[in-house]
Amino acid sequence: NTVYVLNGPNLNLLGTREPEIYGSDTLDDIAGMLEDRARELGLQIDMRQTNHEGMLVDWLHEAQAEGARAVLLNAAAYTHTSIALLDAIKAIRTPVIEVHLSDPLVREPFRHISYVGMGAVKCVSGLGARSYIVALDAVAEL
Ligand code: DQA
Repeated sequence: NTVYVLNGPNLNLLGTREPEIYGSDTLDDIAGMLEDRARELGLQIDMRQTNHEGMLVDWLHEAQAEGARAVLLNAAAYTHTSIALLDAIKAIRTPVIEVHLSDPLVREPFRHISYVGMGAVKCVSGLGARSYIVALDAVAEL
């Protein structure tokens, strides 16, 4: 009953990175909130962050190999560029939920395309740190 929570580039800087867009919670803060909610839902969280595209591909494969219940994926900027991530999502049967702190659709046009979204079963965005919590609630309902 483990949910992989995979975070892409620059999200290690959350808390200080453009707080007017991404809020002041750090990734550790978000991990804490997710763990609390996961306990209530009878789920477990495996929270990770990398700045490397191929690492996200490897972790998606691992999620399936390890029998993860689902993946919450905030691929950050790779969302808008990575066909490799889309192919990885399509290559596994583990459901992937796309997550964003901000709402990319109301930002610059280059953020309006989401390759991740073409393979994901759902998308939760624009709620700040709460996007992750709502996405976890959605896992319980999958
Ligand atoms: C983001 C949105 C992306 O467009 C951006 O590149 C990020 C963060 C978000 O969580 O709002 O790095 O995924």
